[in-house]
Amino acid sequence: MAQAILFHPIGHVRSPYSDTSQIPKGCGAQHDAEGVLELLPEYEQGLTDIDGFSHLFVLWLFDRVNGFDLLASPPTDTRQHGVFATRSPRRPNPIGLTVVRLLGQDGPRLRVAGIDMLDGTPILDLKPYLSSVPIDEVKRGWLAEAEARQGQ
Ligand SMILES: C[S@@+](CC[C@H](N)C(=O)[O-])C[C@H]1O[C@@H](n2cnc3c(N)ncnc32)[C@H](O)[C@@H]1O
Repeated sequence: MAQAILFHPIGHVRSPYSDTSQIPKGCGAQHDAEGVLELLPEYEQGLTDIDGFSHLFVLWLFDRVNGFDLLASPPTDTRQHGVFATRSPRRPNPIGLTVVRLLGQDGPRLRVAGIDMLDGTPILDLKPYLSSVPIDEVKRGWLAEAEARQGQ
């Protein structure tokens, strides 16, 4: 087995969701929920100049999941898919990636919209959202087929 890697959270998500059943799932699910990315005070300086970005990547830990499956059964399809072709929480390295809209900042607290994490989720990193991939070059793989089958 490869060497383990140790990360320390830079903060935690304050979310309206206390249970996974409350988080929208499946085809067409909208993630509009607002919450707060609460950084530990010692990392506040790292937020300098973040206010000019409309969206952020949030890297976080699926801290309430045990184990992983190499084949996942996403709520968007009746068929199984390789875990690395899905956004399943049950992955070998349980790292989540969410794009949020930055609404405002109050010191080490960022108000954001678009969260899909449970309250108290550990945050591993934040980065400004930037994409240079033209939208017409983006393929949606099995998800596009599943949506077509479901008439979406
Ligand atoms: C499908 S995953 C996608 C997460 C992220 N957008 C990604 O692509 O990595 C979202 C689901 O993860 C689960 N979840 C959210 N926060 C979690 C946590 N802290 N620990 C374990 N599972 C969590 C919930 O069931 C939620 O609906």
